[in-house]
Amino acid sequence: MAKNRDQADHYTKRAKKEGYPARSVYKLEEIQQRFSIIRPGAVVLDIGAAPGSWTLYTQRNLLKGRGRIVAIDLKPLTLDPLPDRITFLQGDAFSPEIAQQVREAGPYDTIISDAAPATTGNRSVDTMRSQGLAESVTAFAAEHLKEHGNLVLKIFQGGGEQEVIRYMRTLFVKVKPIKPKACRNESFELFLVGLDRKAP
Ligand SMILES: C[S@@+](CC[C@H](N)C(=O)[O-])C[C@H]1O[C@@H](n2cnc3c(N)ncnc32)[C@H](O)[C@@H]1O
Repeated sequence: MAKNRDQADHYTKRAKKEGYPARSVYKLEEIQQRFSIIRPGAVVLDIGAAPGSWTLYTQRNLLKGRGRIVAIDLKPLTLDPLPDRITFLQGDAFSPEIAQQVREAGPYDTIISDAAPATTGNRSVDTMRSQGLAESVTAFAAEHLKEHGNLVLKIFQGGGEQEVIRYMRTLFVKVKPIKPKACRNESFELFLVGLDRKAP
């Protein structure tokens, strides 16, 4: 446990030093290093983007001065001023208004989602809500992701992750689970990566 806490501190300190608003950036970094889900010049949709570490990491390190990012969250991003190539939409990603704007700005090469429900402390409620979000994100991918595109989403373990994996397999050539090192040991979050979207 102490080792895990030290590691958590390490990631938090590193994020601060490197100018990221949250330590979660190192989860996307590991996923990218392992699966290369975002290519230079890509059009990226980031669902559940606040405070903005994944968006900033993608803009700074992966797009290589081309492409763009559409970031959505219920809460504002803390990136001020908003860097180039980022459009921010505030609201529920799955509301009709935001969905319309997402459609107009797409289609996308990659969809990334670290979206998580506000937790209640009741594990079965939290995992059920997380599964609902993961399914909605996958439905977005079905609608807005280009052929050969990639998806990463977060899901809380212990609920219906097998159902989400089955759903993702209908859309992607490969589906891989990953628990990045930057996840806290006590966290039950897991990331599912969908690679190479099949022809719609
Ligand atoms: C763990 S945080 C994301 C951290 C972000 N990836 C970063 O690196 O800064 C999860 C976010 O998901 C957002 N979220 C949850 N449900 C959402 C929804 N339906 N629409 C938009 N955002 C949502 C929450 O507001 C929260 O900011």
